[in-house]
Amino acid sequence: MSNDFVLRSLDEIRFWSRIMKEHSLFLKLGFRCEDTQLINEANYFFSLFEQIEARSYGYNVSTDPQTIKSFNTEVRNAAANIWAFKRKVLGLILTCKLPGANNFPLLVDHVSREANYFRNRLEELNTGQLEPLPDAIIDENVFFLKIMADHAKFIGHLLDPSERKLVQQASEFSHDFDQLLFQAQDLSSMRPQSQTVPLLDQFLDQNRVSVVSLRDFKKTARDLIEACRIKSIIHPLLADHVFREAERFLMIIDLFEQALTGHGKSNLPL
Ligand SMILES: [Fe+2]
Ligand SMILES: [Fe+2]
Repeated sequence: MSNDFVLRSLDEIRFWSRIMKEHSLFLKLGFRCEDTQLINEANYFFSLFEQIEARSYGYNVSTDPQTIKSFNTEVRNAAANIWAFKRKVLGLILTCKLPGANNFPLLVDHVSREANYFRNRLEELNTGQLEPLPDAIIDENVFFLKIMADHAKFIGHLLDPSERKLVQQASEFSHDFDQLLFQAQDLSSMRPQSQTVPLLDQFLDQNRVSVVSLRDFKKTARDLIEACRIKSIIHPLLADHVFREAERFLMIIDLFEQALTGHGKSNLPL
């Protein structure tokens, strides 16, 4: 274990614990006032991840890797618990136990997939079992393309229907990312023969182009929502949240590009 392990662990925890904290808030806002037990559970996870986020900033590159290893285990357990909470909520929605609540089932499933991703990353870091680069490139892109496709759908459905132009743009992004996801699944199915440097490099380039334009669209939407210039039921923090997740995907694409070809826009270790 090394400084690299410490840096990577802290980077994952700082990014994803803030995300988990915000999911707790979004879920809470979608519950009905009488769902006090669920609201209490959401509040519990909000403060749990708030504390984890704060503690992660108390560590740095020179912290003992063993300390980080046990921190990772603790956070991994918290991620597993919020995953279980999200799946429980999904079950309640899909069996019509929360009529009138305002969380879309796809959104609850989506945030549970992000919790599962976070948990897996921490396990991989602690066991030192990171996927080989060609597999990681395909698997991370399959994961994040679905996340981006979902975001486009959420934006389209949470904008006011009278915002016709923006709803149309969101629907185009949804279609574009569904197509990219199918392409990624095709590339995955053709493993290992598809894992050549030119094919993977082209795959990354193509995905980057679409993620950059979706990221810019989210940024515009976020700014318009914050300035109260458009009609929607999108919380300003949700608009910023999905923008940050697109930025995260772009950073990962750049790290892969650099590892694959020796060129790239980032100097961070993969
Ligand atoms: Fe999220
Ligand atoms: Fe997301």
